[in-house]
Amino acid sequence: MRLHSSTDTVGIILAGGSGSRLHPCTTVTNKHLLPIGEMPMIFYPIKKLVAAGIEDILIVTGTEHMGDFISLLGSGKDFGCALTYRVQDEAGGIAQALALAERFAGGQSMCVMLGDNIFENPILPLIEQFLARPDVAHILLKEVPDAERFGVVEMKGTRVVRIIEKPEVPPSNFAVTGVYCYPPDVFDIIRTLTPSDRGELEITDVNNAYLEQGRLHAAMLEGYWSDAGTFPSLARANELVRLSPPIV
Ligand code: G1P
Repeated sequence: MRLHSSTDTVGIILAGGSGSRLHPCTTVTNKHLLPIGEMPMIFYPIKKLVAAGIEDILIVTGTEHMGDFISLLGSGKDFGCALTYRVQDEAGGIAQALALAERFAGGQSMCVMLGDNIFENPILPLIEQFLARPDVAHILLKEVPDAERFGVVEMKGTRVVRIIEKPEVPPSNFAVTGVYCYPPDVFDIIRTLTPSDRGELEITDVNNAYLEQGRLHAAMLEGYWSDAGTFPSLARANELVRLSPPIV
């Protein structure tokens, strides 16, 4: 039996959260089950990972709608992957959700995707870059008009010097997208984190820790990209997919 995918990298899709910015549409369901184009949102990250050769995928979500995810996605065989599910008992941030993947990852490298990130291009180039330097965390950046909604990089020339989560005054227009590759020691880094002002373990703090260790690589994400966690961005993601379906 093959335990790990052809790339020896496992996939982790973080699909928790209360979806509060999409109430009342998320009052009785999970954001990642809402439609984008002709498919539920969660299909997009699964397809991206599978297209990059990642066939062992963990889905992390809350207790409320885990049953719906399993009913919808099953074992993953229709997608050509093996799905594993892990419950995040209460929303404590993206890094806290990622920490739940430690046993699943079992010492493997991982490609982590936020389930509400919809984008055009394949992730294979990212995976290949990562496999060339697997001891370094890799992030993807996108130029956006509303950087204050995201993790934002501060640059010195072409070098990232700091990442700030949802800055009032963004130091650049480059948002950190929700597509990350991490070495297995990401869990050691998460153990060192303390909650942010909003009471969450921030993925931005994980990336800053790698940056401080000189182990963060940032590249630009080509093609369109949108999150889908607010009504305007959900509408935008739908429009982007309608005009040009993502390449997998
Ligand atoms: C999260 C991250 C943020 C990142 C964004 C990408 O924000 O905290 O750093 O830029 O995803 O979608 P959230 O969607 O939780 O507000």
